[in-house]
Amino acid sequence: MIELQHLSKRYGGGRATAPVVALDDLCLTVPEGCLFGLLGPNGAGKTTTLRILCTLLAPDAGSVRVGGIDGLTDPRAVRNLLGYVAQEVAIDKILTGRELLTLQGDLYHLPRPRRDARIEELIALLGMDAWVDRRCGSYSGGMRRRLDLAAGLLHSPRLLVLDEPTVGLDIESRSAIWQVLRRLRDAGTTVLLSSHYLEEVEALADRLAIIDNGRVIAEGTPTELKAALGGDRVTLRVREFSDQEEALRVQALLQGCTGVRQVVVNQAQGFSLNLVIEHEGVVEALRRQLAEADLPVFALAQSRPSLDDVYLQATGRTLMDAELAVAGSRDAKAERKQSMR
Ligand SMILES: Nc1ncnc2c1ncn2[C@@H]1O[C@H](COP(=O)(O)OP(=O)(O)O)[C@@H](O)[C@H]1O
Ligand SMILES: [Mg+2]
Repeated sequence: MIELQHLSKRYGGGRATAPVVALDDLCLTVPEGCLFGLLGPNGAGKTTTLRILCTLLAPDAGSVRVGGIDGLTDPRAVRNLLGYVAQEVAIDKILTGRELLTLQGDLYHLPRPRRDARIEELIALLGMDAWVDRRCGSYSGGMRRRLDLAAGLLHSPRLLVLDEPTVGLDIESRSAIWQVLRRLRDAGTTVLLSSHYLEEVEALADRLAIIDNGRVIAEGTPTELKAALGGDRVTLRVREFSDQEEALRVQALLQGCTGVRQVVVNQAQGFSLNLVIEHEGVVEALRRQLAEADLPVFALAQSRPSLDDVYLQATGRTLMDAELAVAGSRDAKAERKQSMR
């Protein structure tokens, strides 16, 4: 459905300022009919990618194909095919939601009966019945987002593109939007959304790409990406506080067990051991072998690798750290500006 090849984009770069590299040879393929997540911290290049895809912004280099159509030479045809829900939208305050949708339907040249039927359909789909005839000025963030979504869906696009659709929303609006996106996907619409929320991508996406510094650094299904990291993480200890000698004995024993990878002694936590196991059954075998060696397990915690582990593996930092780094450099910039005044 979407094929972005070797996109690059810089902003600015006047005489006084260095250009900002927003996209750096970004490649992305989204198969038809899937719900695809573009995950990355603030400043990673998500909005730039989506705006180029939707023909609202021209790349410096690279190619854009949507549904087999070249977005650079035939932007109108691409726009007909997709609906775009932007990150920040300015909605008129005086009109009601229904009036706004009607206006939008006319801009798409929908014949009147089809327009009105489609609006009714979307009001039902997005649960807007109670307030769609109120003025938009009185809407909450969640209501506004649902109206945006309805506007993006009016012309029944084959592809829906959403830029951070649930930022700042309450839990109820968020799950309502998630449910709508899943239904659209189930009905055959391709959905591409960007997010910096791990749990959003984890909950929704059939496939995802992790984007960082304008490049795709990992791509696949959540299961594939996690599986590539190896199996579950296990932390265990044979008594509340072991000494180093005992920990090393346990380590040697565990390293000999089949299905165990990477056994690390964790000195800071009373000599517990961290290991990666290849599959579920390994845990029982471990318990047995340790008991036979008179080192019965005192405590054991097991966890699946998360998308955060995937991100950490790909970039060497957690998503949270990446967000803090962006926030930090923004603060520093603001301070510099302040001190120049
Ligand atoms: N209009 C612009 N002018 C200058 N720099 C920009 C502009 N838009 C985005 N950038 C910069 O490009 C990079 C990518 O931004 P963006 O695509 O908005 O990322 P994201 O949506 O992932 O937060 C950031 O460093 C951002 O500061
Ligand atoms: Mg953005």
